[in-house]
Amino acid sequence: MARLSVNIDHIATLRQARLGKEPDPVMAASIVELAGADGITVHLREDRRHIQDRDLRLLRETVKTKLNLEMAAIDEMVNIAMEVKPDMVTLVPEKRAELTTEGGLDVTINKEGLLRQVSILKDGGITVSLFINPDIDQVKSALRVGADYVEIHTGRYADAANKEEGEMEFGRILDAVKAAGKLRMGINAGHGLNYINIKKMSKISEIDEFSIGHGIIARAALVGLDRAVREMAELVKVNQAVLKQPL
Ligand code: PXP
Repeated sequence: MARLSVNIDHIATLRQARLGKEPDPVMAASIVELAGADGITVHLREDRRHIQDRDLRLLRETVKTKLNLEMAAIDEMVNIAMEVKPDMVTLVPEKRAELTTEGGLDVTINKEGLLRQVSILKDGGITVSLFINPDIDQVKSALRVGADYVEIHTGRYADAANKEEGEMEFGRILDAVKAAGKLRMGINAGHGLNYINIKKMSKISEIDEFSIGHGIIARAALVGLDRAVREMAELVKVNQAVLKQPL
């Protein structure tokens, strides 16, 4: 049965919108774990636009399941990972102007650097995953640089404009998953997955773990809104009732 790692970056995005203290991703992680997630994922970006170093360090102390750190394949981040020691590092390509991770790593082109970084992280006892497009050559390169896992980018499947395109992308994912399985690599998948498209994706039994963020936090904002408004309406009414009483 596949595991679910929940990406809580968006909780930090909301906090950073006011540069305040809430919502706190550390509290969110505990709720996510209580609800049954198998892991917590955060992406510490070079520009620190959502998750902060403080969050990562506290999460390392509080997360009871598995902490997966997504990060760029650069020395600054490798040093941080070696200090904090998450259970897994997922190396991703990172562009400053992007809204979210846009594509997979080109493992073939970046072989030399990745070989070195993967080996440092693995020597530090950290499991290493590489976020790649569903491409068999990239799977093979990931094995060659020593990665334990590949995370297959499901974004193109999720964003497919029509059924044919969706099926073609699903086929690519399936081929990449089968190739990684043959090479005995661990297999994760993620990006753009939601409550609808996960139904088909979760039928791929070889996938060990799904990494899902946006879909879950977007759903939480809507299903949690009713309760949040009721609680505030109650407080507003209570205060009005108090004001109407003689002082
Ligand atoms: N996997 C990786 C490598 C990512 O960069 C992201 C987005 O941060 C996700 C999974 C989760 O994607 P989404 O937020 O669309 O569920």
